[in-house]
Amino acid sequence: MFDRHVTLESLITDSVAKKHLPKAGYAHVVAATEYAFELAVKRKVCVDLATKATLLHDIGHTNWERHGEWDFESYNEFDIHTIKGAERAHELLILKGEDLGKAREIALAILFHSGSSPVSKNVKLTPLQKLVSDADDMDEQEDGAHHRVKIDFGEALQRIRRLDMLVHPYRKDCNENCENCDSLK
Ligand SMILES: [Fe+2]
Ligand SMILES: [Fe+2]
Repeated sequence: MFDRHVTLESLITDSVAKKHLPKAGYAHVVAATEYAFELAVKRKVCVDLATKATLLHDIGHTNWERHGEWDFESYNEFDIHTIKGAERAHELLILKGEDLGKAREIALAILFHSGSSPVSKNVKLTPLQKLVSDADDMDEQEDGAHHRVKIDFGEALQRIRRLDMLVHPYRKDCNENCENCDSLK
């Protein structure tokens, strides 16, 4: 049914995603992706890009847990997960056969998703970039607790398959040409 497109399922089941997404937590990335879908429909932003970028937004995370606690001091000082995530996600998307324009837009949205990152300083976000940042914030809990909520991979996959079904109708008129796409302006 979805053969022509890179799906959310094909991303979350990839070995690179399986290695890195659990560090931020499946519960967080799946919940944020569900928020991203709703925001994209409401704001008329590309639903395909919004959900893919949000699913992969924390793929650059390092494990900041120390003795079961999130080590905020080190995280705030040394974290570069937006940079690593943009690069990792781009490589994964290209490997899966994603359109080059889409891969670039997704990677940039990941690069700028965190307002506290020095990378985002003085950057005027595009609607897609703002949406990914907002979807991330919607699932945020105090002291990084959202990264410690646990769901198993089976539940994550089930919810991602549901999102693929929801995204599909929005993608049918997509000409894969992001340069001229109204939903990115
Ligand atoms: Fe993040
Ligand atoms: Fe996040």
